[in-house]
Amino acid sequence: MTRSFEKVGVVGLGTMGAGIAEVFARAGLTVVGVEADHEALGRGRGNLESSTGRALAKGRLSEAEQAEILGRITLTTSLEDLADADLVIEAIPEIMDFKRTLFTELDRICEPSTVLATNTSSLSVTEIAATTGRPGRVVGMHFFNPAPVMKLVEVVHTVVTEDGLAEEVADLARRLGKTPVSVGDRAGFVVNRLLLTYLNHAAVMLENGLATREGIDTAMKLGVGVPMGPFALLDLIGLDTSYEVMCVLFQETRDRRHAPAPILRELVTAGLLGRKSGAGFYNGEAPPTPPAAGKPTVTSVAVLGEGAEEFAARLGDAGFKATTTQAATDATEDADVVVALSHTPVIELAARLPHPRRLVGLHLVGDKLAEVASTVLTSPEATCAVEGLAKIVGRVPVHCKDRAEFVVDALLYPYLNDAVRMHDSGYATMDDIDVAMKLGCGYPAGPFETIDTLGLETVRDGLRALYAEYRDPAFAPAPLLDQLVTAGVRSIRGLS
Ligand code: 3HC
Repeated sequence: MTRSFEKVGVVGLGTMGAGIAEVFARAGLTVVGVEADHEALGRGRGNLESSTGRALAKGRLSEAEQAEILGRITLTTSLEDLADADLVIEAIPEIMDFKRTLFTELDRICEPSTVLATNTSSLSVTEIAATTGRPGRVVGMHFFNPAPVMKLVEVVHTVVTEDGLAEEVADLARRLGKTPVSVGDRAGFVVNRLLLTYLNHAAVMLENGLATREGIDTAMKLGVGVPMGPFALLDLIGLDTSYEVMCVLFQETRDRRHAPAPILRELVTAGLLGRKSGAGFYNGEAPPTPPAAGKPTVTSVAVLGEGAEEFAARLGDAGFKATTTQAATDATEDADVVVALSHTPVIELAARLPHPRRLVGLHLVGDKLAEVASTVLTSPEATCAVEGLAKIVGRVPVHCKDRAEFVVDALLYPYLNDAVRMHDSGYATMDDIDVAMKLGCGYPAGPFETIDTLGLETVRDGLRALYAEYRDPAFAPAPLLDQLVTAGVRSIRGLS
């Protein structure tokens, strides 16, 4: 018989828990929200009021509707009030001991038929289930922040989940207006495994001084079209949560890319947890502003590389003396700056020039972004001038070091590679991974759609370049990708 979920309990009313309670209440279910004490309950009430208040302010909700939603949520400090709930979901901190203690209690209190769910980001659902006398009725129900907005729910089943239960929970997610993706119990599931690995990579890049925090955020937003750059997103998720997810991933994989970037530990230890504490990578909620570009004081520019003619023509229209050249030699002698349009590092080119201080790499990404790469020989004046030139041709400049794949591709390709490996491992289908990344993170396209758009060979070659530069085995192209390129296959999604 199919269960009917009408009364649900939500334990923990932090950002996620309050969001989840709101989602259930909006769908017409009766919700009991539980917090540890009256102070935390007050904060939970505040979270509920501010989230629905936001919708009210935007005219998406009337006052009556807000009152109706909040009226469906009862707040309590007693777990005993969950005894007759059809489903209880926890959203307490990501500490296994806390979860085990809570689930032992819930198992004692709730009816045997009650389904117990965890919103854990990465901890083992199996281990949590094993603390109860009903492991077959314990599942993961993983929402995404902000829960009222993001459309994805990962429904996590374990090897002992009762037959049919994951599908019933998926139906419940649909009733909430969400799209469920059903996954097995593996650290990070689909989204966090891919997303947090990428966010951690961005933090490592920042530590290596490849580009600034604002630069990396701007590059990813403009270059890939993600709704938030990695540091703004880390602040939204919470740096403590992100750090804990990385620790769990590292414990399972021992992959050094999953070792949390030291800057995460430092910020967390300092109490800078992101939005929830008021400051993290950014202070407050101010969106990152694009880095300022200097006014170009140069008059003559030599341009070389693919697309040089068009770029030079644009500069010519803007009043510069712009020439193109194929060889980085004498033809550049008289130029104030030399712009090398390139998607690969330009140091070799610079080293061949009579005036290497004048050479700056420029990687045009999409139609909005220009990555401005200065080598160890480039002068600050030349960098500044080329940033200004990028602006003149209508692009936002992001300054970076002259490293393989610069910023956007260096972050994007390993993420795509991880998705290919995930699919190839049999953990999730390409469709499920694409849907999960689009609905869980608001990405404009899933990783497999992105690979098809960019071209399999481009991604494979980019990964080879990254591997050659950093020698990280994780950057070596996934064997499946390599073989598809060798076989001349043009669409990875065509395989599914
Ligand atoms: N709570 C409730 N509603 C919110 C909200 C919040 N914190 N933030 C935004 N919203 C609502 C707004 O009210 C608005 O609703 P409307 O369309 O009905 O008017 C809508 O979301 C869009 O908001 P804004 O126009 O103010 O802002 P943006 O267009 O910039 O969108 C965003 C904000 C939805 C957060 C968008 O930037 C986004 O999709 N970011 C990516 C978020 C993401 O990746 N989340 C997943 C993180 S991973 C995770 O949670 C898993 C965990 O285990 C770590």
